[in-house]
Amino acid sequence: MTQFNVGILGATGAVGQKFIRLLQNHPWFTIKALGASDRSAGKAYQEAANWIESTPMPDNVKDRVVRNCMSAQFEDVDFVFSGLDSSVATEIEGDFAKAGIPVISNAKNYRTDPTVPLLVPEVNPDHIELIKTQTFTTDGSGWIVTNPNCVAIPLTMSLKPLNDHFGIESVVVTSLQAISGAGYPGVPSLDILGNVIPFIGGEESKIREEPLKLLGKLKDGKIEHASFPVQATATRVPVINGHLLTVNVKFKKSPADFKEVVQAMKSWRSPIADLGLPFAPKFPLEIFEDERYPQPRLHADSENGMQTAIGRVRSGDVMDVSYIAMAHNTIRGAAGGAILNAELLVSKGFIS
Ligand SMILES: NC(=O)c1ccc[n+]([C@@H]2O[C@H](COP(=O)([O-])OP(=O)(O)OC[C@H]3O[C@@H](n4cnc5c(N)ncnc54)[C@H](OP(=O)(O)O)[C@@H]3O)[C@@H](O)[C@H]2O)c1
Repeated sequence: MTQFNVGILGATGAVGQKFIRLLQNHPWFTIKALGASDRSAGKAYQEAANWIESTPMPDNVKDRVVRNCMSAQFEDVDFVFSGLDSSVATEIEGDFAKAGIPVISNAKNYRTDPTVPLLVPEVNPDHIELIKTQTFTTDGSGWIVTNPNCVAIPLTMSLKPLNDHFGIESVVVTSLQAISGAGYPGVPSLDILGNVIPFIGGEESKIREEPLKLLGKLKDGKIEHASFPVQATATRVPVINGHLLTVNVKFKKSPADFKEVVQAMKSWRSPIADLGLPFAPKFPLEIFEDERYPQPRLHADSENGMQTAIGRVRSGDVMDVSYIAMAHNTIRGAAGGAILNAELLVSKGFIS
């Protein structure tokens, strides 16, 4: 397998640190360059970053000098991962794409751009064809691919087999989101300890809209979005990692009972299962029958944090079915999801 040199933009942040940890010993990707703001540029990484990962800072980044996030300083990489703050991602990611450096981003800024794939490899791998419609460069060398919001990922992973089987009429979802989703230092401890915060700014619109693009169909170089309504409530809870969702779904074609829904989830096969991608979970969905599960502390790290755990699937009186979905927000919902996107792009020849 060809080796690729990668850069990380926003390398000092919570998502950037996760990239650094997850890319250690990656069989295809080697970290070549780290970028952050003017506050960090020019410093050794260990001085610039407040390391919050639970494993020690890897030796291969400690003394690396952090660069400014300017494309001219990243000419030695094949592509970049971005964990940039959204206040700067539009300009910086656009600058890299225009310079012919592909960007695989976690930031929200380009997710709704009709030419930019919003990608979950197990859900919509065909959407990568949208890259060919981007105009950042005349020769197609620079482009942007995004991964979805950290709630939209487990929600859409769980809805995919259900939409294929029964057709979705409507969804009502409430998220119980971990504090690591707010970056560092994130939510003040006096606000979150022993408490629930019933609002996360900007989150509910992403939960409503992103699954519709992900479950949309690619036709003539455009995505026709799925059209069912999603009603979302986003809350922050004192959990460190793992966003847990309560999901209620009404179908176009009602299943006989919830067991048919379980069967649809269990029999679903990931379209990327045979591609040999290093970060692809062997079982993208785990369906628990034990009513105590899933729990963030017990299951967020399953399959290296790349699995979506489902539980408590049951019939409802108002909607057809209710269940719990849960996934690791900074791995599956951010850096790990972006790494899997990059692996798919390599396997399909978009990065070579
Ligand atoms: N945390 C999650 O679970 C999660 C999940 C999905 C998506 N995301 C998205 O991923 C992105 C990063 O989130 P995070 O939680 O890692 O945030 P964070 O901890 O606040 O990190 C932000 C990063 O952006 C850099 N940055 C800020 N201003 C900059 C500038 N003017 N020029 C260059 N770099 C700049 C920071 O560098 P300095 O250290 O030098 O300031 C830092 O490396 C956000 O867009 C977020 O919405 C996060």
